[in-house]
Amino acid sequence: MAMRYIPEPFRIKMVETIKVLTREEREQKIKDAQYNVFKLKGEDCYIDLLTDSGTGAMSHDQWAGIMRGDEAYAGANSYFNLLKAGQDIFGYEYIQPVHQGRAAEKVLLPLLLCEGKFAISNMFFDTTRAHVILTGARPIDCVVAEAKQPAARAPFKGNMDNAKLEALIKEKGADKIGVIITTITNNSAGGQPVSMQNIRETAAICKKYNIPYCIDAARYAENSFFIKRDEPEFKNKSMREIIRETFSYADMFTLSAKKDGIVNMGGLLGVKDEKSKLVTDIKAQCINYEGFYTYGGLAGRDMEALAVGLYEGIDEDFLRYRIGQMEYISSRLEDAGIAHQVPVGGHGVFIDAAAMLPHIPYNEFPAQALVIELYKEAGIRCCDIGSYMLGNNPDTGEQLKSEFEFARMAVPRRVYTQAHFDIVADALIAVSKRAKEIKGYRITWEPPILRHFQASLEPIR
Ligand code: F0G
Repeated sequence: MAMRYIPEPFRIKMVETIKVLTREEREQKIKDAQYNVFKLKGEDCYIDLLTDSGTGAMSHDQWAGIMRGDEAYAGANSYFNLLKAGQDIFGYEYIQPVHQGRAAEKVLLPLLLCEGKFAISNMFFDTTRAHVILTGARPIDCVVAEAKQPAARAPFKGNMDNAKLEALIKEKGADKIGVIITTITNNSAGGQPVSMQNIRETAAICKKYNIPYCIDAARYAENSFFIKRDEPEFKNKSMREIIRETFSYADMFTLSAKKDGIVNMGGLLGVKDEKSKLVTDIKAQCINYEGFYTYGGLAGRDMEALAVGLYEGIDEDFLRYRIGQMEYISSRLEDAGIAHQVPVGGHGVFIDAAAMLPHIPYNEFPAQALVIELYKEAGIRCCDIGSYMLGNNPDTGEQLKSEFEFARMAVPRRVYTQAHFDIVADALIAVSKRAKEIKGYRITWEPPILRHFQASLEPIR
């Protein structure tokens, strides 16, 4: 039985009209886009679940912040407001605004990595993986085995496999590991949370081998909600306390504020100790790539909206409603027997395309095939988190086989309602009924790195 939908803990006072194209129009649009959903126009998508990043609806308080933005080049009030919010929430001394998450990666990772080094993460997001490779280093994923079994219900399927982590450090040599990164939540594994206990253990390993420990914090608020819900020790702790403790174990964090910060653009780079040499280097890198360190690629108004959004994103009632949206979709899919990563994660529902389309091999991209079918079916745009996204081995050029083939339906914050999610569930059910007829795809053109954003594809007949 589908669970009860948790009502929106807000009223709506600004709207944007959306339209649905006919099936014939959608088929033409996706063909014209070379079967790459990133090349579709936003207006041609009825329900856009491509990403939860930068697609949220800002509150009236955030829009008021936009009007208050102080645009001084150096030392703007809006910078100090953001600094104060960041220091208050994360407990770090140094908070650097940047224009988005990958900008924090671009600024930070070359300071920690170079050719011959490795970076290890529970699981790298694709831009983080790309920035590791761009430094000449190599990324290694080190997630627990449960993450790779979508149907296996277990809490904290995003965790680092700490035994494997320590074995990897011994194998490669501690001096070869430039940084260890815990990604919260674990996006690529399905928005799966990482437990506090797991973070503590990873931190202890980093300390033992003297390796910098970084948190990729894009969805730290959702992760903290799961810790409160599922880790008994934290049942009576506030979100604020859980967040403070999470960050206390790391040395630094990168954060795309376009997710839990509920802004359309923005990011942060945090360093616990302001006096560390790293901060001097970060400022220099930032001035070169992002702009002066009191704005880092953001307008004053952006920083003001983020200073407000950081607090709205950690509100427990909001998070209960938000995670409830994923649980609602998940419960409808469960009723219909559609395999997906369970228990459902924080920012979306990840459909197990390998289970729905077992006749399509990894190198014909089953998740991408499902993504295209959903667009044709109902104008729903989502994306592949599988072999198509993973790309090729940077050393051999061979197509890599992903651990899973997910079609990710990421849910923007405060944007869609229960009726939209019913359309999504109905569309998936309709597609699953004709799964056998769905064919795979081949790539006809691809760039060398982060190919999925730009590649062209064609159906295999
Ligand atoms: N880290 C994680 C875990 C992410 O999910 C993302 C972005 C980034 C870093 C990079 O941040 O986009 O602000 O530069 N994820 C988006 C997504 C794009 O759709 O999952 P960014």
